[in-house]
Amino acid sequence: MMLTIADLQRGAKRRLPRLIYDFIEGGPGAERALDRNIEAFQDIALIPRVLTECNKRDLSVDFLGKRYAAPFGVSPMGIGNAAWPGTDLALARAMGEAKLPYSLSTAGSTSVEEMARAANGYLWFQLYINMTREIAADLCDRAAASGVDVLIFTVDANVPSRRLRDMRHQLAMPLKFRPGLIAQFAMAPQWSIATALAGPPGMGNLKKYLAGSGNDLKEMLAAMATSRLIWDDLSWLRDRWRGKLIVKGVMGGADARKCQALGADAVMVSNHGGRQLSSAVSSIEALPAVRAAVGPDYPLLLDSGVRTGEDILKALTLGANFVTMGRPFLFASAAIGHEQGGRKVVEIVRAEIDNALGNLGCNSLAELGPDLLHTPLPRNY
Ligand SMILES: Cc1cc2nc3c(=O)[nH]c(=O)nc-3n(C[C@H](O)[C@H](O)[C@H](O)COP(=O)(O)O)c2cc1C
Repeated sequence: MMLTIADLQRGAKRRLPRLIYDFIEGGPGAERALDRNIEAFQDIALIPRVLTECNKRDLSVDFLGKRYAAPFGVSPMGIGNAAWPGTDLALARAMGEAKLPYSLSTAGSTSVEEMARAANGYLWFQLYINMTREIAADLCDRAAASGVDVLIFTVDANVPSRRLRDMRHQLAMPLKFRPGLIAQFAMAPQWSIATALAGPPGMGNLKKYLAGSGNDLKEMLAAMATSRLIWDDLSWLRDRWRGKLIVKGVMGGADARKCQALGADAVMVSNHGGRQLSSAVSSIEALPAVRAAVGPDYPLLLDSGVRTGEDILKALTLGANFVTMGRPFLFASAAIGHEQGGRKVVEIVRAEIDNALGNLGCNSLAELGPDLLHTPLPRNY
């Protein structure tokens, strides 16, 4: 029975070829940041309030000028359809129905125009400045013309990640399947047949800049991580983008304040799901210092390692206003099919948040406060 995100992850492991599962789950080097992201949440303990009426629990939240049914959404993930053909569109539909945001990556499998039609007004768009500012500007224009009003600018992927699992599988981007992988595909027949029928998962959103343009996808992907982004790029984007602007991948207080000063509407505390730097601090550990730096009212998001509704409440208690999750949605799509996957994550996480709110003695998210946080004893007590 699929009752938790962990159940969905186990299901995904059973149904995916090893190299695809590893691409989704893996991180660089010793993968310490992956474990740390999860463990840091598990280490936080909460102190319930008692004898407070909490029978009218409301999960909804106002964020960046819009009402969402709950305080969570989907983090941007390139080549989402690697998890299962049709994942991008089905997730966008499921989130739109649930009145929750889906973030489409620049490297998403489906174009922003198609995704916006599916997402019922709940699509956010994530920008990588790759190649040229002309392409970045065009991506912004396409998003705006599709009705997207929230842009996420990712700034934490300076250089390509050294993900050893991918290197050992000789996983190449764009995805190409070599004959040596046949045994892995044979072990995952449903995924392999579905993918053979749909064609290899790609980056449909970038298609426009490839056909007949002289651009090469490989070069374009390499250009996303050339250590070239500077603060001036944020200023340029702030001038260019009229909608809400979130800067994603900020882990330090001083950097967050600089984003704030340059006019970003929000900062997302994220270590890219532990996919860039093995020794990175977890985002939940980094959050309190970022909150202290930007003051009590500046909008903050958090992702990386969120796996339960209780994790989301912990992030809100420590100063986040909104939370997104990445891998859980891809695991769900792989485990139970793209049409059901997103709905299942929403159902599980909503139920967990609602239950935890009740057990904490709260009726609404606004009631979460520092008195709920247990301060651990020093390790050598
Ligand atoms: C398969 C995969 C692809 C990703 N691609 C992108 C991307 O294109 N742009 C981006 O900003 N972050 C990308 N990320 C990072 C996610 O947006 C997010 O920060 C991370 O997955 C959150 O951690 P979690 O998976 O533990 O929830 C990707 C993550 C995964 C797992």
